[in-house]
Amino acid sequence: MHKKAFRTLPDLEKACVSTLYKNWRSKCTIPTAGLYPFQWLWDSAFSAVGWAYIDLSRARQEFQTILDCQWKNGFLAHIVYHDDDAGKSYFPGSAFQGAGANPYAPKHVATSGITQPPNLGYCLEQVFQLDHARAEHTDFYKNTISGIFRFHAYLYRDRDPKQEYLPYIRHNWESGTDNAVQWDAIWQSFEPRQYDIQRRDTEHVNDQQRPTKKDYNYYLTLIELSKELNFDEQQMQKTLPFLVQDPLFNALLVASNESLARLALQFGMSDIANTCLQWAQKTKKAMNRKLFDPIAGMYNYYDLRNEKMIKGSGAPSMVALTAGIPNKRQAHLMKKTLQSAHYWGEDKAYFLCATNAVTATDYDSKRYWRGPVWIPTNWLIWKGCERYGFKSLEKQIKKDSLALVQHYGLFEYFDPAKSTLQDPDSTGYGGADFSWSAALILDMIQSDNANNTKSRLDLYQQI
Ligand code: SER
Repeated sequence: MHKKAFRTLPDLEKACVSTLYKNWRSKCTIPTAGLYPFQWLWDSAFSAVGWAYIDLSRARQEFQTILDCQWKNGFLAHIVYHDDDAGKSYFPGSAFQGAGANPYAPKHVATSGITQPPNLGYCLEQVFQLDHARAEHTDFYKNTISGIFRFHAYLYRDRDPKQEYLPYIRHNWESGTDNAVQWDAIWQSFEPRQYDIQRRDTEHVNDQQRPTKKDYNYYLTLIELSKELNFDEQQMQKTLPFLVQDPLFNALLVASNESLARLALQFGMSDIANTCLQWAQKTKKAMNRKLFDPIAGMYNYYDLRNEKMIKGSGAPSMVALTAGIPNKRQAHLMKKTLQSAHYWGEDKAYFLCATNAVTATDYDSKRYWRGPVWIPTNWLIWKGCERYGFKSLEKQIKKDSLALVQHYGLFEYFDPAKSTLQDPDSTGYGGADFSWSAALILDMIQSDNANNTKSRLDLYQQI
C-alpha cells in the first residue's frame, strides 16, 4: 500500500499554505519551481483563491500583476516571463514565443501571444467574498473589474467571427487542457513542422506523463505560424489551422461574466454589469444550442476551421455546471454521465473526475490531460454540483480530491484508478508542490469552516 503523504487533514492544510509561500515570487505565484517558473494566467487566478485565506494582499497582488501586463487591446497572455533567468528550465521561452512584435504587447515585460481559460472574474469574486478589508480597496476592485472586462470585450470582439457569442481558442494551450483527446482530430487536418528541440519539461517529469514529441511539433507549429503574422488577430483568424469553440473556456467565460456583473454592481459600475450579464446569457444559450450533446450527457467542442463537431469525453466540459449553463434536465444527464461506469468504473473503482472516460480507447491514466484527475477541474465541478444541489456528487468529488492529495501529495495531476494506491511505488504525476492544487484544496477544506475565516487567517500568518 502506498504510504500517505499527509497523515491528517491538518497536516495537509499546513502543506497547502507552505506550498503557496514556497511558490511566491515577489509579486505573483508560479505554478511550481523548475517545470513552470513564470506566471501562468489561470494558475495565478486559482492561486489567489488560496491566498485569500492566508494573505489577502497577495491575493489582490496576483490580479494586479496580471493586469499590469495586459496588452493594449485587452488581451491577457497565458505566460508572463517575469524572470528571464528562470527561462533555462522552461521551453518555449519568450524568444520562441516572439509576441513582443505585436504593437499591442507591453514593452516592460515579455509575454506569450496566446491566452488561457478566463477564470479571473470567477476567482476575483471568491477573493472578494473573503476580503474583510474590501472597503479599503475600492480602487483595486474597480480597476481589476475594468481590466477583466476589457479582456472579455477583446474575446467577444476579436474571436467570434460569426457573432455566435462563443469565442474561439486558437492554440491548444489556450484550452488549459493541452493534450486533450479532442485535439487529435485537428492534428489530422494539417502537417506540422518538425522540430529537433531540447524539451525542458521532460527533464523535470517522466516523459510518459507529458505530451509526446509529435504533439509538440503541432504546438510549436501553431506558435510559429502566429509569430509569422505578428500575432495579428485578423490574420490569424483567416489562416490558423486551429480555431475551436471550447466548452471549458466558454463555461469559465460565462462564470466570470456573472461574477463580474455581481461585483460591478457592488461598485456602481452598472454599464459593465449589464454588458456582462448579456454576454453571460448569450454564451449560455449558444453553448446549449450548439455544443450540448444529449446522448453523451456533456458538451462537445466545435472545430470552426473545418466546420466539424468534435465529440469526446472528459471532465473539462462538465465545468458548464459551475456557470449554471445546463438546464435542470441537461444537468441531470451530466450528473448521470459522471456517475456512470465510464467515469467511476465498475464498483466505483476510480476517483472522480477523470479528464477522459476511463472506458475510452484513448484513455491514458498517466499522460497529462488524456485521463488523469486534475484538482482545478474537480474544484470547478464540485462548485457546479453545489450550484445544482447535487449533494452526494458534491461530497464525493471533495472526498476523492482530498483522498488523492492526502495519499500522493500536492501534485499537478493524479492516476484515477483506486487500485494504483496499492502500488508502494506509485506517485502523483507532473510537478510536485503545485500551487493550484494547494490553493484549491485549501478552499475545499475551508468550505467546512465558513464561519471561521478570521481565526484561520491568524493561524496561517504564524506558519
Ligand atoms: N502547460 C503548458 C506547458 O506544458 C504551457 O501552458 O508548458
